[in-house]
Amino acid sequence: MFSSVEEVWSKLLVTGYITEHVTATVVYLAAKLNRPILLEGPPGSGKTELAYAVAKATGAEVERLQCFEGINEEKAIGKFDETLQRLAVELHSKSCSVEWEQLREELHTQPFFTSGPLLRALQQPKPCVLLIDELDKVDQAFEAMLLELLSVWQMSIPKLGLIRARTIPFVVLTSNEERRIGDPLRRRSFYLRVEHPTPQRETKILQLRTPGKSAEFHRHMAGLAKALRGWSLEKPPSISEMLDLAQALELLQEERITSEMRDVLLPLLAKTEADRRKLLLRDGWASLVYDAHQYSVETIEQ
Ligand SMILES: Nc1ncnc2c1ncn2[C@@H]1O[C@H](COP(=O)(O)OP(=O)(O)OP(=O)(O)O)[C@@H](O)[C@H]1O
Ligand SMILES: [Mg+2]
Repeated sequence: MFSSVEEVWSKLLVTGYITEHVTATVVYLAAKLNRPILLEGPPGSGKTELAYAVAKATGAEVERLQCFEGINEEKAIGKFDETLQRLAVELHSKSCSVEWEQLREELHTQPFFTSGPLLRALQQPKPCVLLIDELDKVDQAFEAMLLELLSVWQMSIPKLGLIRARTIPFVVLTSNEERRIGDPLRRRSFYLRVEHPTPQRETKILQLRTPGKSAEFHRHMAGLAKALRGWSLEKPPSISEMLDLAQALELLQEERITSEMRDVLLPLLAKTEADRRKLLLRDGWASLVYDAHQYSVETIEQ
């Protein structure tokens, strides 16, 4: 997929994903050594986006399994298409010489099986990116099922048999830490902790998404993000919320946040009543604007 760490970094940059040396190195090694990457960190910090960026950078397809509570193997691996099976039985029963044993076997072959994302990922002619998103939503039994796939790249499917990987996918597992992912999966993966970006990196991400705005504006937004994250809010803003805010200010033709803009910006910045109350404090908001300015000045100096 990649021939060097620098290639990972630069190809991800071309797709619009700004990363740093450690993540680029882990992506490079995971691709070379066929190891899944387990990404854990706050919402909106770029976990899912990394999988899409790797796919875009390498021209690979994405197979995505969106996890949710109660997800079952059928959804992930696939299931026999009963309608198709019934149709085949009806057709065969019309012919006078039906070999029932042979028919039974035929009905349990791949053409009668509708594959889910896990199976599709193993059967791609070219390695794809397999994104297993929000793995913390599944239970331990489901996690155990993934072990076989992620360690020996094969799956035993009842009645269908053992399916071996045609190509080994690049696997990204993400978690928001609602439930602790088990140790066996952790041992098999490279673990990447995703945190909120530094103001320097956030400035670059903002530059990419709102290219029409000035460098000062981007630094100011990154400074504001740092100030807000230092405020012990229930839901501190993630990169995606800062991108929304930057786009909103672009539409409103504003260059920076001022003390007067508090009420109009609250719906974009406060996502719970407790956070709204905190940001409503007039002195609080003024000190936030002040801190944002200070941090943006520090970003130039560093
Ligand atoms: N390093 C980055 N470079 C460029 N854009 C980024 C980066 N990190 C995050 N983003 C932007 O932030 C947004 C949110 O990222 P993403 O959806 O990947 O977050 P997440 O960690 O998967 O969040 P959640 O846990 O809520 O699913 C994306 O739209 C992406 O454009
Ligand atoms: Mg996500």
